Amino acid sequence: MSESRVDSPLVEFLAKELERTQDELPKLARTHMHALRLSRQADFDVLEVARLGEEDPSIATRLLQTANSSFHSRGLKIRNVEQAALRLGVRGVRYMLYVAVYAQMVFDVPRYRDLIHNSFRHSVIVARLARRIAALGDTDVDLAYLSGLLHDVGKARCYQLAAAHPEFGSDYEHVTAAVHRLHAKSGVAMIRDWSLPREVINAVARHHSPTSDALECCVALSDTIVHMVENPHSTPQEELDARSDAVGLRSDQVNYLIDNARLDNENEDVAA
Ligand SMILES: [Fe+2]
Ligand SMILES: [Fe+2]
Repeated sequence: MSESRVDSPLVEFLAKELERTQDELPKLARTHMHALRLSRQADFDVLEVARLGEEDPSIATRLLQTANSSFHSRGLKIRNVEQAALRLGVRGVRYMLYVAVYAQMVFDVPRYRDLIHNSFRHSVIVARLARRIAALGDTDVDLAYLSGLLHDVGKARCYQLAAAHPEFGSDYEHVTAAVHRLHAKSGVAMIRDWSLPREVINAVARHHSPTSDALECCVALSDTIVHMVENPHSTPQEELDARSDAVGLRSDQVNYLIDNARLDNENEDVAA
């Protein structure tokens, strides 16, 4: 989606509100902060995460949900959190924690619930595809996944602020365009205290205007492909070509990625 260049009153309002409320941003729960730090260690103990699940039911619930998703379950239902962690393994638990952390930041805003849910689902697909793109080169796959997951995290905050003023909210297209304009900045403000690597914050900040940095280009290409799959007429071919060239991919590799994004987009429980 190209960025609107015209500042509407809603864009101005949201920009001021984001500035005004920056010290009131929701903090990451202590257990999630701990889980995030833990998961960034090369070979952490998955059972330690299972124990965090005893303190924080949202982690336990997501561990079980993920372990029992069609991708991981192979038809065998698990009801025990430790077994779920063992089934997922280090990498699976790491990705699950990233999703759990993101889910904590997805505010429930009844007025825009569908838009926020769609954005969350979109981000999970972008994260998975960014990981595939990273694996085709030598970009860190875990940072690609995390950056892809967080790239649109600022949208929910923008929708929340817009919803507080219903006079702005009757035209969904208008609201969506304003949110699009400000979500990258809003996202950076949300994640800046999470002790994330600088590259991840940059990839979130610049996912619509990447520099030549490999991680930024990887997330931008993933986002472009997923938008194209979700809405086939939304993305100009030139944008896809430019993003693919920036990562250095051949057309057969890009077609492989598009097929993967399509499959994920058709998967009902992709965001489980
Ligand atoms: Fe975005
Ligand atoms: Fe996106």
